[in-house]
Amino acid sequence: MKIGNLDIGQKLFLAPMAEVTDSSFRKACKEQGAGVTFTQMVSAEGIIKNNFESLRILSFNRNEKPIGVQILGNDPAIIGEAVREISRLKPDLIDLNCGCSVDKVTSCNMGSALLDDPEHIGKITRKMVDNAGDIPISVKLRLGKDRSHINIFDTAKAVEDSGGSLVVIHARARNDKYISEPEWNWIAKVKERLKIPVVGNGSIFSPQDVKRMFKETGCDSVMVARGALGNPFIFSRYQKLIETGDDPGTPDIETVQEILIKHINNLELDLGEVVALDRAKKQTVWYLKDYPGINLLLENVFRVRNFDSLRYLIIEHVSKIQQGVLGEDDKVDVINKFKKKVLFWLTDD
Ligand SMILES: Cc1cc2nc3c(=O)[nH]c(=O)nc-3n(C[C@H](O)[C@H](O)[C@H](O)COP(=O)(O)O)c2cc1C
Repeated sequence: MKIGNLDIGQKLFLAPMAEVTDSSFRKACKEQGAGVTFTQMVSAEGIIKNNFESLRILSFNRNEKPIGVQILGNDPAIIGEAVREISRLKPDLIDLNCGCSVDKVTSCNMGSALLDDPEHIGKITRKMVDNAGDIPISVKLRLGKDRSHINIFDTAKAVEDSGGSLVVIHARARNDKYISEPEWNWIAKVKERLKIPVVGNGSIFSPQDVKRMFKETGCDSVMVARGALGNPFIFSRYQKLIETGDDPGTPDIETVQEILIKHINNLELDLGEVVALDRAKKQTVWYLKDYPGINLLLENVFRVRNFDSLRYLIIEHVSKIQQGVLGEDDKVDVINKFKKKVLFWLTDD
């Protein structure tokens, strides 16, 4: 797929995910073959006020390119100013968040609250395009506020008519949050009506899902979100699948351990132990969630107080997996613990 000067061929997008798609996560996915990664959403107002946290979220290394920066806001003037600032850093894409359904975002008329007013989305897009120089502008949309008020044709068209270069469609409505099945057929319908590229998103958990989304929707590329958590391998597996026709499957446990440890080491380096440790614990559980002993790991991991103990725990746990000494877990118990501590977006509102 080509967007302006950016050509990612048949590679896929890694979705923006708050508190997840930091530099270490992006690196892990890029090394496995993600075509474009995104920063998590960053407040437009925070950028123009030089807020420390906003600037930290926004920062990226040159070796992470191609990379997109996603911004959150509502006021075209403020967003425009933020885009001017961001464009100096030369990301490959600047994206507007019209998908976030978290209450503290929508109650400020940002994220998916913008979907209610396609004309306003058009105004913001135009301002972004005017201020971005030659950097393409994308907008990440949901279908509408709920399934009886789907207005994706209007919002996507507003983006196209205002000079946007790309739309990403998360094929759920705002009030679906993440739980209901996405309706990919809307991606297909939008693709038929738009000239600019369309990227599909929603419940991609395997390389086979990627293939199916391409086939069923005719989209130009696919964006992976939760399917990449603890699983950057989804990108390399998909590349192999299209090159050879065979999905190599999840790598062996030794490789998983190696990549997990590299990932958490990068987290520690980038963010420092205090901020990074909680993220590293989540990553650890995500990487090892499909192996026996996940219940035991969940209990142990949340007691860990520093990175050395976490690395030790990972090595010890993986060695038990290799020896086959961990029994099968009680699935209901695992799901309940996951809902509380790991799949936090399921209870998020
Ligand atoms: C933990 C988490 C954080 C997210 N943060 C963002 C965000 O910052 N910006 C955004 O546009 N979408 C965000 N999303 C939504 C995802 O980008 C994606 O659209 C959504 O998860 C649907 O894809 P999936 O069903 O394949 O997970 C987030 C999702 C999750 C699970």
